[in-house]
Amino acid sequence: MILEKIDQLLNEVNNLKANNAEEIEQLRLKYLSKKGEITALMADFRNVAADQKKAVGMKINELKQLALQKINELKEQNEVAEESADDFDLTRSAYPIQLGTRHPLNIVKNQIIDIFQRMGFTLAEGPEIDDDLHVFTKLNFAADHPARDMQDTFFISQHPNDVTKNILLRSHTSNDQSRIMEHQKPPIRVICPGRVFRNEAISARAHCFFHQLEGLYVDKNVSFTDLKQVLLTFARELFGPDTKIRLRPSYFPFTEPSAEMDISCHICGGKGCGFCKHTGWVEILGCGMVDPNVLEACGINSKVYTGYAFGLGIERITNLKYRVADLRMFSENDTRFLDEFVAAE
Ligand code: PHE
Repeated sequence: MILEKIDQLLNEVNNLKANNAEEIEQLRLKYLSKKGEITALMADFRNVAADQKKAVGMKINELKQLALQKINELKEQNEVAEESADDFDLTRSAYPIQLGTRHPLNIVKNQIIDIFQRMGFTLAEGPEIDDDLHVFTKLNFAADHPARDMQDTFFISQHPNDVTKNILLRSHTSNDQSRIMEHQKPPIRVICPGRVFRNEAISARAHCFFHQLEGLYVDKNVSFTDLKQVLLTFARELFGPDTKIRLRPSYFPFTEPSAEMDISCHICGGKGCGFCKHTGWVEILGCGMVDPNVLEACGINSKVYTGYAFGLGIERITNLKYRVADLRMFSENDTRFLDEFVAAE
């Protein structure tokens, strides 16, 4: 009789389950308290025949140990469950992910690249650190040209007796022209965006580094008309169909003839404002026909081939599109500034 009762309790205790601390306490009271089932067995134990007392006693002990162990296990499991419930609130909504933005210079650069790629230009990039030979000499700079001077160019190393071996930070992307013409035979139709460096005091209007995009087209029968049409198409694609261009004669050692191109001020529509200094026009690039000396220096026969080149300032164009008042904003990594361009693309 008592043995059956013990077996039944053993079975119950083996399958104990509880969902929370309170239920566990109820089980402890039910089995292990003074008024509990196991204590009650002790009362019956007195009536057990003497020769069975040992066996029954051992069984009761086994039951008590099992009940203790099971209730402790339940307590532990419950604690773990409660702790993790504290750590992970699975009902909490997710934190919003802070999305980055494209840098305004990259947005504009990509728009410019896209326009020229649609006109058949391929994309290339040249080195920011280069030698005098490619940045100046092959581009027809006279030995005493001021651009070679320390005031403009950051030199990395100067050769004792051969200026063409000086290593420097390029002051324009035109070094890409000499590098491409050296290795590629015409027809060449390429654009090269990149960073350039000039030794200037940093202010709202000037920086010691900025970005340019170089364009180069070399083939048979390339004329100034081709250059003008490509630049007009470019300006209209970027700033809208009403945009006008104006080419002013200029000078660059590596182009002849040379010009600077203005566009009608995008901000005032050509009426005149602070940005265009009340002229209605804003300069955005330098250009011209590649000087025959440059073609020859790069191994291209200037009797057979002609070409044009242009170099535009990406900061200047970005300013026209987004009216950034201070050039320094572009390189300060202030996320309040960059966040302004979330929707721009
Ligand atoms: N390299 C010139 C500059 O930095 C721009 C330019 C490029 C002019 C190509 C003509 C042709 O100002």
